This record gives sequence, structure tokens and C-alpha cells, in this order.
Amino acid sequence: MLFPPQIIGHRGCAAYAPENTLEGLHTAADMGVEWVEFDVKLTKDQVPILFHDEDLERITGVSGAVADMNYEDIRQLDAGSWFGESFIGVGIPTLEQAVDVLIERNLGVNVEIKPCPGREKETAEVALDVLSGIWDDHERLLISSFQHVCLETALDMAADWARGFLLPEEWPENWRELAEYLQVSTVNLDGRICTREQVEQALELEKPVLAYTINDPDRARFLQSWGVDGFFSDAPDVLQDGLFSVH
Ligand code: G3P
Ligand code: MG
Repeated sequence: MLFPPQIIGHRGCAAYAPENTLEGLHTAADMGVEWVEFDVKLTKDQVPILFHDEDLERITGVSGAVADMNYEDIRQLDAGSWFGESFIGVGIPTLEQAVDVLIERNLGVNVEIKPCPGREKETAEVALDVLSGIWDDHERLLISSFQHVCLETALDMAADWARGFLLPEEWPENWRELAEYLQVSTVNLDGRICTREQVEQALELEKPVLAYTINDPDRARFLQSWGVDGFFSDAPDVLQDGLFSVH
């Protein structure tokens, strides 16, 4: 299997199934997608779960911070009905449950460490600890984060696992030095707003460049022509068709 992957299902397969759920992973696998990305943060009692936001409201309708709630309460929440009636009752999975599905469905994964503020090191440590016990396919694992402490922790704990350097809209001034210090394997930038010059600068590190979150095949073709190697997409099938099908 190719590294880096050309198409990565974003938050599972977020256009077709509720984000960061086991159903999303299955939906991606059903479509023939080979890699998925999901976000990992910790509950109050340090269980790594798949969740993007700091607050539970958007996804579950229950207000409150993830960091303030124990897993026992989080596991009761409905993370599917906001997306559609057919997903009523779909829960928030643990990282461990998600890895079981990855193994069952033969998926590669980009685990994005998305800590709640102040829990950067702890989140990376717990997530990597859990991963190292249950996932041994290091060829198909990419650990990424916007938080440099998380990548530094990954470097300390599992130096041989690939690390993805996530760049936000505003790149830190010392991004080159950081990327080198963290010994990253990929540079993951915001493909919706990046300029051609930024892509060229990122390519100067001589690492593959991945772009998030691209659902428009026309934009993907531009980025590809600038040298971008792979794409995170909510609709991986649309991107796959737009980029690689002969029309
Ligand atoms: O890792 C790529 C992408 O997931 C980063 O943005 O906010 O969707 O986690 P976000
Ligand atoms: Mg993400």
C-alpha cells in the first residue's frame, strides 16, 4: 500500500456518515477507501475517544466540555442523530474500538491528536500508549497534530512512527525549524486556502505534502498540479473519481 496515501477519508467519511464514528470507518471501507483520518482527545478520566470539538454540543446536543465528562457518561451520548435519522443511537467510539474496526476492515490510519487545551502531552501519551498495544502495522499509521508538544511526545515515545506536521491557516514563523526538529514524515496543510507559493515552500522540505479538507475535485486538480501528494476528503469517492478516473 502506498505511503503517503493519495486519498484519506476525513473524520472517517464525513459526507456520508457522522464524523469520527465507527459507522464512518465502515462507510469508508465499503467505498474502497484505503486510509482514514480521525481526531482523538481524552475524556476527563483519560479514555482516548474519537471526537473533534472541545464541546459536546454540536455533535450530541448536550452542552459541556469533553474534558469535564467521564467516559461512562460520554458513551451514553448520541453522536449520530444530528447527521441523519438512520444514524440515531450511534455512539462516540473509543480509540480502541476504532482500531478494532481498522484491523477488521484493513484500513490505514492518520490519528490526529486533538487535545483539549492544557492536555497536550497527556493526550499524546495516552493515545500512543493505547495504540502501541493494539496496532503494529506501522507502515499504515501516521500520527499528526497541530500541537507541537504532541508530535514531540510522539517522537520521544515512538520515533519510528511517521509523524504528520499539521499547519494551520497561519503558519508559525519557525515552521521549517519545527518540522526539522520533529523529524516529520509529511506536511499537512490547509488545501482550501493555501497558495501555490506555500505548497512550493512545503515541498522544499522534501517530504510528501497532504492537503485538508478537499471535497472539490477542481481544487484537488490544482493542488495536484502544484505538487500536493494526497488529500483528506469528506467525500473520498468524489475526489477519487475527479482525480484518477479517465473521463
Ligand atoms: O488532519 C487534517 C484535518 O483533519 C485537520 O483539521 O479540524 O478537520 O481536524 P480538522
Ligand atoms: Mg482532523
